Amino acid sequence: MADSPAIEVRDLTKTYRTPLRRKKVEALRGVTFSVERGQIFGFVGPNGAGKTTTIRTLMGLIKPTSGSAKILGYEIPSREARARLGFLPETPYFYDYLTVGELLDLAGRLFGLPADLRKKRANQLIDKVGLGRARSQSLKKFSKGMLQRAGLAQALMNDPQLVVLDEPMSGLDPIGRKEVRDLILELREQGKTVFFSSHILTDIEAIADEVAIIARGALQSQGTPAELIRRTVLGIDVSVRIAADAEIGALADGATRVRRVGDELSLTLPANADVDAWLVAARDKGAKIVAVSPRHETLEELFMREIASADSSSAATEGRV
Ligand SMILES: Nc1ncnc2c1ncn2[C@@H]1O[C@H](COP(=O)(O)OP(=O)(O)OP(=O)(O)O)[C@@H](O)[C@H]1O
Ligand SMILES: [Mg+2]
Repeated sequence: MADSPAIEVRDLTKTYRTPLRRKKVEALRGVTFSVERGQIFGFVGPNGAGKTTTIRTLMGLIKPTSGSAKILGYEIPSREARARLGFLPETPYFYDYLTVGELLDLAGRLFGLPADLRKKRANQLIDKVGLGRARSQSLKKFSKGMLQRAGLAQALMNDPQLVVLDEPMSGLDPIGRKEVRDLILELREQGKTVFFSSHILTDIEAIADEVAIIARGALQSQGTPAELIRRTVLGIDVSVRIAADAEIGALADGATRVRRVGDELSLTLPANADVDAWLVAARDKGAKIVAVSPRHETLEELFMREIASADSSSAATEGRV
């Protein structure tokens, strides 16, 4: 069990059936991924992509239509998995009249923790999430950001190995978002695995070791933020100095942009061009290299492009039915 991935999801599908309108919603269409232990894994996708459905399946709250999932090597739902898991739902519901301390004590009781440990953990977590000054207030008086922090503290009461957070930054201001990011980084430092969803790429890009993009119930891509950034290269700008009357011939082949002013030649090669070979060829013609730089789209643009292509391909599939 110790060497199994933190999360393993295989070919997960989920079709919701709304009984009244007898409409089917294919929320997940075959999702497969795994999350290494000790990682921060970001699950990003637009509204309705299937993030919460995936998470609720992982938590054992809903049954998938087909496919399987394991947590820390344990089948779900199972006691073993639940005991090692911390969970912040998308819209946490708390009893208004409790204080945060009482909320955490309740969570600790559900995990069967003894009273002294519950008290110690609750106090530590209240300080950690910055609710020390609101200790004696009832949750009714909490702002959205404070409730989110109370929810985070509650998810950590059982000192879980894996923490699953559904949109932990939603509704928070920039300072609140940064605080949640720092808290997630701290959890990784303690050796925990954190899986969190967001529809905002920058929150994920900043801290995740691995990112999966989901749209329309299917994974569009997965990789480290650096790998995804590599996929954003649109072309490679090169500029060289070469005699104004030199024959450049094949150097311009395949280039999307060629500009020659006096002895300056600048062009854009395709993203997959063999830049090394091009530079050798240019030197052979007496060129001096001035600059080589990849031209990127932003990750946000990549994200939007993938979502758009998921939309058009599933529209095509739906059109055929
Ligand atoms: N209980 C349900 N019954 C019917 N359809 C549902 C149900 N829950 C979710 N859906 C549908 O399944 C799809 C995926 O929803 P899901 O909540 O998983 O998306 P999400 O990625 O979490 O979106 P958001 O960013 O808005 O939270 C959507 O089309 C949604 O309308
Ligand atoms: Mg959701």
